[in-house]
Amino acid sequence: MKHQMKTIFVKDYNEMSKKGYELMKKVIETKEQPVISMTTGGSPRGLFKLLVEDINNGLDISNTTIMNLDEYMGPKDAVYTVRTFMYENLYNLVNTEPKNIFLIDGETQDTDKEIARYKEILNQYPRDVQVLGLGTNGHIGANEPGTPFDSTMFLAQHDESTIQSTMSGYGISREEAPTEMLTLGFTEILEAEKVILLVSGKSKAEAVKALLEGEITTDCPATALRNSDNAIVIIDEEAASLLEQDHTS
Ligand code: PGA
Repeated sequence: MKHQMKTIFVKDYNEMSKKGYELMKKVIETKEQPVISMTTGGSPRGLFKLLVEDINNGLDISNTTIMNLDEYMGPKDAVYTVRTFMYENLYNLVNTEPKNIFLIDGETQDTDKEIARYKEILNQYPRDVQVLGLGTNGHIGANEPGTPFDSTMFLAQHDESTIQSTMSGYGISREEAPTEMLTLGFTEILEAEKVILLVSGKSKAEAVKALLEGEITTDCPATALRNSDNAIVIIDEEAASLLEQDHTS
């Protein structure tokens, strides 16, 4: 049988957030010790809102472990860090705590040691869900174009388009913007039982076309998901606007 990523087409950002959140919530409600690895940025903001609402209305996360797939190299309290995002969009907003919170240390002077530490956590906590966003250049995590498909957690250099996205996403200058990130590789991303890729908006339309209608190639990193039964991509109408074929699955 052919292995294939699933596609879900939705109207807009809100529907994408709802659909992605439903898939995640089911895992939190049904697994005994759920392990969720999140992404940050514009794509998952709506999903975080829904999660916060539900937790404050009684969704039990006392057995849930929450971690992240990447972290910018820079001061940990900088406006752009994954840590800052996670506290501002989740941990500071809820009236209860998850079982574990794991974050990558982007202040480390010894990236090899930090990678070894985090890999140990990844081994101890196999992920039920990995949430992802899609870069305008097709990246997932900080696996930029050209990254080999067998990558494991590493220190990545950002592409210029990624630096520009960080600048506009957080209203910071070129000098302030981080240029490096510790990130899970494709290998660890694909180890998750479910990989949920959230894609919304016109700026992602080229990347979506490459993801679904181009070759499987490291030029579009997200194509690494295409032959995985674990992967589900949720795409809104604007992001799907350049597609020429029918991808309903
Ligand atoms: P965004 O970024 O969600 O802020 O659009 C996506 C990504 O680069 O992973």
